[in-house]
Amino acid sequence: MGIIIKTPEQIEGIRKSSQLAGNTLKMIEEFVKEGVSTDYLDKIIEEYIRDHHAIPATLGYHGFPKSSCISLNEVVCHGIPSSDTVLREGDILNIDITTILNSYFGDTSKMFTVGNISENAQNLIDTSLHCLNLGIQQVSAGNRFGNIGFAISRYAKAKGYSVVYEFCGHGCGVEFHEEPQVEHVARRNTGAIMEPGMTFTIEPMINEGRSRAKVDKIDGWTARTADGKLSAQFEHTVLVTETGVEVLTDVSGEMN
Ligand code: MF3
Ligand code: CO
Ligand code: CO
Repeated sequence: MGIIIKTPEQIEGIRKSSQLAGNTLKMIEEFVKEGVSTDYLDKIIEEYIRDHHAIPATLGYHGFPKSSCISLNEVVCHGIPSSDTVLREGDILNIDITTILNSYFGDTSKMFTVGNISENAQNLIDTSLHCLNLGIQQVSAGNRFGNIGFAISRYAKAKGYSVVYEFCGHGCGVEFHEEPQVEHVARRNTGAIMEPGMTFTIEPMINEGRSRAKVDKIDGWTARTADGKLSAQFEHTVLVTETGVEVLTDVSGEMN
């Protein structure tokens, strides 16, 4: 199949879906506070997405039961929203939203915090955001995908953190997960060459301790750090343009 080069029409559809995903993350911010369950947040997310004539892509995806992934503290990714998971002061969490609007996909996630968090946790969050930004800075026609993971892993390592390698970014837009796998740990100047019209995610998961992630044997989804230490992640869907990059899921105008 290879990496899909999107047509202008497809790009416009992916842009709209990506903006909706970004706006959903913005919308949920005011609801993230101590005492609410992650299932409550998921219900608000689902309603918002449906109100905007779209579908949450995770719902039913390979059996995933909810409209978002909400990953607390030591959960690396794919946390399942639950009425038993209630936010507590000091928690850090990633909310990951993927929308299907007019059959096009947009995928984005960011970290939220509950009340006062440790300095440690804040440093990890800051580092994971910077890792995403360094990855995005590598996006340009003619560059190789491996330079994304090289930039990310070099910076995370310098900060004393590790990068999860079991989960990757991915082509995204006409399908949820397309080629290529966008590695967050990679060697310089390796991998496919980026071309205008490619759309994909960058979503580095950065760990406080060791990089190993383990998937819950019972629910088959929740990935946790093997050592139980904190993990943080930010994600954007990006477009390779003739002149550089457009961050399709960025609704705050921070990235473009
Ligand atoms: N949104 C996640 C990603 O960034 C994928 C979630 S798949 C699910 O790729 F099934 F866990 F929801
Ligand atoms: Co993704
Ligand atoms: Co995602």
